[in-house]
Amino acid sequence: MHWKGVIEQYREYLSVTDKTPVITLNEGNTPFIACKNLTKAINPDISIYLKFEGANPTGSFKDRGMTMAISKAVEDGAQAVICASTGNTSASAAAYGARAGIKVFVLIPEGKIAMGKLAQAMIHQACVIQIEGNFDEALTIVKGVANEYPVTIVNSINPYRLEGQKTAAFEVCDHLNGYPDYHFLPVGNAGNISAYWMGYKEFHKLGKINGLPKMMGFQAAGSAPIVLGHVVENPKTIATAIRIGNPASWKMAVDAAGESHGAIDMVTDEEILEAYSMLASLEGVFCEAASAASIAGVIKKNKEGMFSGGERVVCTLTGHGLKDTEMAINLSTRPVTVKADKGEVLRVLGY
Ligand code: F0G
Repeated sequence: MHWKGVIEQYREYLSVTDKTPVITLNEGNTPFIACKNLTKAINPDISIYLKFEGANPTGSFKDRGMTMAISKAVEDGAQAVICASTGNTSASAAAYGARAGIKVFVLIPEGKIAMGKLAQAMIHQACVIQIEGNFDEALTIVKGVANEYPVTIVNSINPYRLEGQKTAAFEVCDHLNGYPDYHFLPVGNAGNISAYWMGYKEFHKLGKINGLPKMMGFQAAGSAPIVLGHVVENPKTIATAIRIGNPASWKMAVDAAGESHGAIDMVTDEEILEAYSMLASLEGVFCEAASAASIAGVIKKNKEGMFSGGERVVCTLTGHGLKDTEMAINLSTRPVTVKADKGEVLRVLGY
């Protein structure tokens, strides 16, 4: 069967009708990967699975929500959409907006987004505005503009975004033929953890799964407002995708963790980078640094003795590593340069 994207696949669970023009890049149906090597390295008594959302058309999970937000905006007659972004939302909005033939305005924090994401917004011809400030300030401006002018906000405060994103939870249940014991994911603006929880609850209510996972969200230590219990005015982390000090879906994320008997916790930049490198070297999976917060979370909780054995643990990898090649290169051993000579090459190979 040809996969036609999350709206066609999950139409009955979404706020769409026959009149909704479906703007899709055939997002969703992303790889679900069992991790033998990582499991062995972390805790052989549990099973770790990855939901690799970096394999979506624009390289992040945002596409699931964006197909809904843009389709509904077009249905409602919108000529333009706007978002604030740490990069991935803007890349996705730019792509889906281009496909819909509408204007896309994006506000990004200057110098704090990965180059791949900026390249995406630019090549899709979004109007990109860099602000001398952070994501939270950009979002405040965007809300103000959308309130006063005929432009639809496509940040995750747009309810169609989370609706689309909940389809990832449906896919996890289909992959596992059930529900995981734990679901780990990075938390930035806190929309995705809320969306997964919505999705799991919906499948549970419909009797498609007979239990629910514990939702485990991880912020970066320098940008951990939910963990600290207060807004962080000047959030810091190398994981720029989750460099957010005042998440829009704060309360929903706290509810998701609370209702599911999970937690919102934090991991340091060092722990994030260690997990990022481990994934790439042990499993051949290249995700962006922010995404690795989910694996860093598993490592942390395992050290704390949270697992008793036999648990099925799913980690969402939210974005593709190719978004930020600079990060990977800076963390890796530089290639050797030699003359174009077989002998020289053999010397380096050690033969
Ligand atoms: N991982 C990546 C790669 C992200 O880009 C984001 C959010 C998150 C995790 C956190 O997800 O916000 O739903 O809690 N990126 C947004 C953006 C803020 O603008 O691209 P969340």
